[in-house]
Amino acid sequence: MAKDVIVALDFPGRTEALGFLDLFESEKPYVKIGMELFYREGPDMVKEITMRGHRVFLDLKLHDIPNTVAGAVRSLGQLDVDMINLHAGGGIQMMQAAAGALDAFSHRRPLLIAVTVLTSLDESLLTRELLISQPLEETVLHYAQNAKIAGLDGVVCSPLEAKGVHDALGRGFVTVTPGIRFADARKGDQQRVSTPAEARVLGSDYIVVGRPVTQAEDPVEAYRRCVSDFVNP
Ligand code: C5P
Repeated sequence: MAKDVIVALDFPGRTEALGFLDLFESEKPYVKIGMELFYREGPDMVKEITMRGHRVFLDLKLHDIPNTVAGAVRSLGQLDVDMINLHAGGGIQMMQAAAGALDAFSHRRPLLIAVTVLTSLDESLLTRELLISQPLEETVLHYAQNAKIAGLDGVVCSPLEAKGVHDALGRGFVTVTPGIRFADARKGDQQRVSTPAEARVLGSDYIVVGRPVTQAEDPVEAYRRCVSDFVNP
C-alpha cells in the first residue's frame, strides 16, 4: 500500500477551498472533503476538485439502516472519488450492504473505509457517556474486525491503533489515520494524536491532516513537511 498524506479541506465553502488549493503550484495533494464543504457546495465541488487532478477521500461517515446506506453509496460511487467511509457502529449488515453497493463500480471502485472510534473520543468518555466499558483499543480492534468481515478495505483509526489493526487483520487492510499534530503544536479537540513521523513508524497507510496544514502560516511548507516526515523521510 502506497503511503500518502491526505489534506482535510475543512473550509466553509468553495472560495476558501479553491483558494487553498491554488497555493499549491506543482503538487496535487490528495484531499479529504468532509461534511462542512460537501453540505454547502454539494457534488459539483467534488467534481471540480477531481477535475483539477486531486484524488479525493469523501468523508461523510455514513451511518443509517443498511438499505439507506447502500443507496447513499450508490450515489457517491458516481462521483469518481478514491475513498468513502461509514461508521462501523452501524453494524456488519450495514457495512455489507455498503460494500455490495460498490459492486456496480468495479471499473473504478473507491476504497470503502470504516470509522472505528473517533479520534476525539477517549476511554473515559466512552465509558461515561456511551457505556462502552471495554478498553478503547479492544473496541477499535473489534470494530475493525467487523469491517473486515463485512468486506471493507480498511479503517479510520488513530495512528496509535494502526499497528494493532495491521497485526490482527493483515498489512493489506488499510489504516487511515487522523489525529496528526507536529511535535510543537497544540492538540485542539483531538485526544489521541501522533506526529507524521510517529504515524509512519506505527504503520499508518494514510495520514489525514487538517489544521496543522490548513491553518499553518505557510500551508505548502507544512504539507511538504508532512510528506517528508511520513512518505519520504
Ligand atoms: O484539523 P485536524 O487535523 O484535527 O482534522 C482531522 C480531520 O480528520 C477532520 O476533518 C476530521 O473530521 C477527520 N477525522 C477525525 N477523526 C476521525 C475521522 C475523521 O479527526 N476518526
